[in-house]
Amino acid sequence: MSTLVRRIAALSAALFLGATALSACGANDSKSGSDGATIALLLPETKTTRYEAHDRPLFEAKVKDLCSDCKVLYFNADQDEKKQAQQLTSALDQGADVVVLDPVNGKTAAGMVDEAKGQDVPVVAYDRFIENADYYMSFDNETVGKMQAQSLVDAMGDKGNILMLNGAPSDPNAAQFKKGAHSVLDGSGVKILAEYDNPDWSPDNAQQWTTDQLNKYDAGKVQGVYAANDGQAGGVVAALTGAGVAADKLPPIVGQDAEIAALQRIVAGEQTMTIYKPIKIEAETAAEVAVALAKGDDAPAKTTTGIDQSDFEGVASYIFTPIAVTADKIKDTVIADGFYEVSDICTADYAKACAEAGLS
Ligand code: GAL
Repeated sequence: MSTLVRRIAALSAALFLGATALSACGANDSKSGSDGATIALLLPETKTTRYEAHDRPLFEAKVKDLCSDCKVLYFNADQDEKKQAQQLTSALDQGADVVVLDPVNGKTAAGMVDEAKGQDVPVVAYDRFIENADYYMSFDNETVGKMQAQSLVDAMGDKGNILMLNGAPSDPNAAQFKKGAHSVLDGSGVKILAEYDNPDWSPDNAQQWTTDQLNKYDAGKVQGVYAANDGQAGGVVAALTGAGVAADKLPPIVGQDAEIAALQRIVAGEQTMTIYKPIKIEAETAAEVAVALAKGDDAPAKTTTGIDQSDFEGVASYIFTPIAVTADKIKDTVIADGFYEVSDICTADYAKACAEAGLS
């Protein structure tokens, strides 16, 4: 479908639906620029804090900055792949010129890409790989897994038993984190007692599974935990303390996402490390690529964030570098970057631990 035809379809959809879509094509549309292009952003879930707190606002702000008359249609799938498929159809019906898609299920999302391409709408695979997308951007996910595992092995002095909690099998990143982690763990002196692929990254499932393992192996046998993300690390800590392990006797535990709760646990000595992904670079690159495509241009080979376009499994890609964060690194990473203020982490309960970590 041509852009014009899609616009007309969009307008009728807006008239039909009334309210929001109409108000969004406001006064700005007459400004010079990229003729009021529409960009759809589809994110996968809300349980991980990054999507609503960072990815979405950073992406929307950068699109606005680059193209004042562009409109962003935003959708969150709440971890439901059928819902996400409907959201894609809805985005196309509302005239999306470009789709930025972080898929709930990387494999089945190929069908969504076909649907968009059938209407001449390019798709940017955001954070999670989709084989037939036009562009892809993410962090070096295998390195994420390697960094997590290395930090765990180091904290354990290269010996002892661990539990291993991976991400959702439907998320292609989860397989990459797992592969990277195994490449370090399997050759180390650390032994994996039991391993779990958590169906939707849910912290509750992580807590339940860990509780089941503690019933089987008893808490004393678990000398470390690989949790692929901070949400799960939180569930693991709840399971361990629930089984009677004192907060100051928790074994080394690693995570990912630099969530506030995880940084607080790190400051308090209840988690060893997390992975900080400077999401600003990823979200802003996505916005730059999307705006270029909306204007009918090729995506830039190098973005203003300084990232070169490369190639990942045959798709033009921008791959960013993850950063390991232990207590001594909080200041120079998430705080220095403005990802958080010290006051976000150092709330009253953590004031003393923060002072000791040189964070007040
Ligand atoms: C991954 C994403 C991670 C994390 C995880 C769930 O796809 O790359 O940053 O959000 O989902 O925690």
